[in-house]
Amino acid sequence: MSKIPPKQEGDPNTTGHSWDGIEEFDNPMPRWWLWTFYATIVWGVAYTIAYPAWPLVSSATAGLLGYSTRAEVAEEIAAAEEANAGINAQLASAELTEISANAELNGYAVSAGAAVFRTWCAQCHGSGAAGFPGYPNLLDDDWLWGGDIEAIHATISHGIRNEEDDDARYSEMPAFGEILENEEIEQVVNYVLELSGSEADPALAGPGAEVFADNCSACHGENGMGDREQGAPNLADAIWLYGGDVEALTETVTYSRFGVMPPWTQRLSEAQIRAVALYVHQLGGGE
Ligand code: HEC
Ligand code: HEC
Repeated sequence: MSKIPPKQEGDPNTTGHSWDGIEEFDNPMPRWWLWTFYATIVWGVAYTIAYPAWPLVSSATAGLLGYSTRAEVAEEIAAAEEANAGINAQLASAELTEISANAELNGYAVSAGAAVFRTWCAQCHGSGAAGFPGYPNLLDDDWLWGGDIEAIHATISHGIRNEEDDDARYSEMPAFGEILENEEIEQVVNYVLELSGSEADPALAGPGAEVFADNCSACHGENGMGDREQGAPNLADAIWLYGGDVEALTETVTYSRFGVMPPWTQRLSEAQIRAVALYVHQLGGGE
């Protein structure tokens, strides 16, 4: 190990620290660096005075410029609403059945309706509107409550089987577990399987037809074709809201089902409701 040579004239200043013979220089910072550093401090202080910065108990200092991202978004929304106010008023007041003939209004409604659908409807009906078990597919032409624009508009406005809207669509299938014998349920399930073209046990489906006529046809129709007045599904097509295998059918008949959809008149404007109704109507199944 060599010894540290003694200090000489012209050697740079050191801090006097030495580790294993390695010394620490004590040079001044470069000027440009120092001034940049001071500038950032000045900028920081000025910024916290000009803009919202310091957290308080339940809010924050507002800043001299009064800027707020929330206010900026609100302004942008207000500007967009103002720009669309005319066409929204037109949409809300036009004759519902005549809107689709007005290309400009209809085009606006369908694209606005798609946005409403993504925000408010997709969580239940799926982003592509194809539905989930218990939540109907809105793309096909199988309608529980009706598929013309007026029926769709009424369904969306007031919802289904909810307690918030007195005009909600309502009906209730009884739970047949309390009404029929297990054997009769098995029979009628087989009859429904037969109706829909699925594989069924003829020995059970035969007497099942009678159980159906006595207990089910009042709502689902004599041939099981359904009744839109009551939102009773067509059981003769192979489209199922809750499932068409023996298990799902037995559960439906035994315990019944009670699909609920919220009303939208309190949450959406009339123009928005019409827009989304027109959007759903043109998805493919509209009548
Ligand atoms: C909380 C879940 C939920 C939300 C959100 C919801 N729906 Fe529904 N919707 C349902 C259910 C459940 C049914 C079926 C009810 C039944 O069994 O009769 C339904 C039925 C419908 C029907 C009737 C279909 C038919 O065959 O007659 C239409 C149309 C409809 N919804 C449109 C919409 C639109 C448009 C929105 C958004 C504004 C929306 N729904 C939001 C749950 C929902
Ligand atoms: C008072 C009217 C009423 C009667 C009576 C009735 N249903 Fe229903 N049924 C309905 C309604 C309404 C629905 C739809 C429930 C929903 O959407 O939540 C339904 C749904 C169903 C479904 C589900 C269909 C699907 O697509 O998943 C089946 C299956 C069914 N009923 C079979 C029967 C059978 C079998 C009987 C007789 C034993 C019967 N129903 C009697 C009103 C009735």
